This record gives sequence, structure tokens and C-alpha cells, in this order.
Amino acid sequence: MNENLLYKKSIIQIDDYSRSEIELILAHSEKMPGKDPFFPQTKFLEGKIIDLAFFEPSTRTRMSFEHAIKYLGGSICDLGDLDKTSLKKGESFEDTIKIISGYCNAIILRSSDEKACIEAKKYSDGVPIINAGNGSDEHPTQALLDLYTIKKKLGRLDCLNVGIIGDLKYGRTVHSLVKSLSIFEGNTCNLLSPKGLELPEKYFTKSCINCEFSDINDLIKDFDVLYATRIQKERLPNEIKDENYSYEINQKMMDNAKKNMILMHPLPRINEITAEVDMDPRAAYFEQAKNGLIVRQALLYSILRKKIIL
Ligand code: NCD
Repeated sequence: MNENLLYKKSIIQIDDYSRSEIELILAHSEKMPGKDPFFPQTKFLEGKIIDLAFFEPSTRTRMSFEHAIKYLGGSICDLGDLDKTSLKKGESFEDTIKIISGYCNAIILRSSDEKACIEAKKYSDGVPIINAGNGSDEHPTQALLDLYTIKKKLGRLDCLNVGIIGDLKYGRTVHSLVKSLSIFEGNTCNLLSPKGLELPEKYFTKSCINCEFSDINDLIKDFDVLYATRIQKERLPNEIKDENYSYEINQKMMDNAKKNMILMHPLPRINEITAEVDMDPRAAYFEQAKNGLIVRQALLYSILRKKIIL
């Protein structure tokens, strides 16, 4: 058994974790039972209770965390609708975190407030905070499953030519992804966004290149990965809410791509990828979402076990 350096470590931004820590989680993911807990010793979270505090809608992140916990023998406790909590009575967020961290082993938090996770960590008395999306800032656990999917499909996390298309300003998955790709060697992130939705400077890394949105048809042929994201309508300021930023990746475009390119999307998709593309073997987005289960199991295993037995 090894001493676990990730024990009780929060994950708020992807670069809270070093390259070797990310690689460790990806390696642990391979050994997780997923939804097939055939060995009793995979009840790695037995006796642990993890609290969910989701203040924004979620399907994949929330459900994959819940299932991950249950398959590993842990329990969840859900803060539930805001209306049913004392936040409704005017209790502060800080006090809420102080109280629930006295009961649980970890808190998985999604909020529209970019500062919520950092604030929560101040008041959680060492109980780890897992950022499940903080406004339009970051979504680090999505980046972990994105990296896992790329590694699984292409066998490497370096020397990749990656196209990233869509709302790069408000899409938090992209912010964590570009940061994470820059810790590996020789990656290029070709950024393609409609005017006004460019990647904010603070997320720009040495791997990033700004490209013309309309050049996607030419550029696609050189990509190893194309990562599409939806326009984050709910986050657009009023002045641009009604702009038409929509774009579509269809089979005709895929015909110009490499035979082994992978097409990813954090989902939900609205109309960025046509349904016909789902049949293309390079469409990796459903597998990507499915990988969330083992990667989140590996993350929780790494954070909540004092000793690593794998
Ligand atoms: C993303 C999110 O919530 O940021 N969804 C997810 O967790 N897979 C992407 C999105 O909503 O566009």
C-alpha cells in the first residue's frame, strides 16, 4: 500500500493537479469497475458519504458522479433544490458549506458563481471540494474524462493537433481542456469561434492558436481531435443573446477529416453535430460521456482513500 498524495485534495481548477497527478488518475481509471463491480474489493468508497450541491442544471456530471459513488459502495446526500434549504431563509453560502462539511467526506459543487468553489474550500475545514462546473470558468473533471478519452482512442496525450470549435468564451469545458493539453508536450489547440466568443486571454496557453471560424472546412483535414461545444445561450449577455452563432458539423465535413480523427463534444449538443454523424466510427462523444463514470470513480478513489491499493 502506498501513501496517497491526492488524499483530501480539492480539484477546483485543472492545474491544481500536476501532470503526474493527472496521469495517476487516468491510470486508476483503467482499474475502476465502472458499472460492473464484480469484485467485492471494489467497494472503495464503503462508509464514505459525498454531498452533492448542484445549483445549476446537470445530467452527465451529476448522474455519472452519483453512479460512480454508488458502484463503489459509497453514499450520497443531496442538498437538493435551493428552495428546500436554509439558503432560502437567507443563510449564507459560507455557513451552508460550514454545516454540510461537518457531515460529509467530500462536496461536489456546481454553481453559476465562478468564486463558489474557492469560497467553499475556505469554509469546508479540509473536506475536499470537487468543482463540477463554476459558471463560465472551469470544469476540471470534464477535462479529466476528455483526456482519458483522447488517450484511450489515440494512444497519446502529446503531439496532438486539436481543433476546438464553438463558444470558447463562456464554455467552461474548453477552458479546462486547453489548460490540461498545455501540460503535455507538443500539442496545438486551433481555436475556432464566432466573433465575440473567443477564448479569454487568461485561458490562452502556449499551445493555442487563433484561427478563422469559417476556415473549419480547410483545417479539419489536419486535426487529430475536433472538440465541438455548444453556444452557452444561458450565459450570453443581453446585447448578444439573440445573435445567431449556430454552426453545424455534418457528414460532408467529416469526409474531409483524417480516418482516425476523433470528434468530441462535452454534450449536451443542440445543433452542433448532425445526427447522421453519430454513425461515423470517429464520433467519440457518447463514449466520452460514458468514460465519465470510471474517471469520476478514479478521482473519488484517489481523493477519499488514505492508502492506495491499486
Ligand atoms: C458542460 C457544462 O456543464 O459545462 N456539460 C457537461 O458537464 N458535460 C457543457 C455544456 O453545458 O455545454
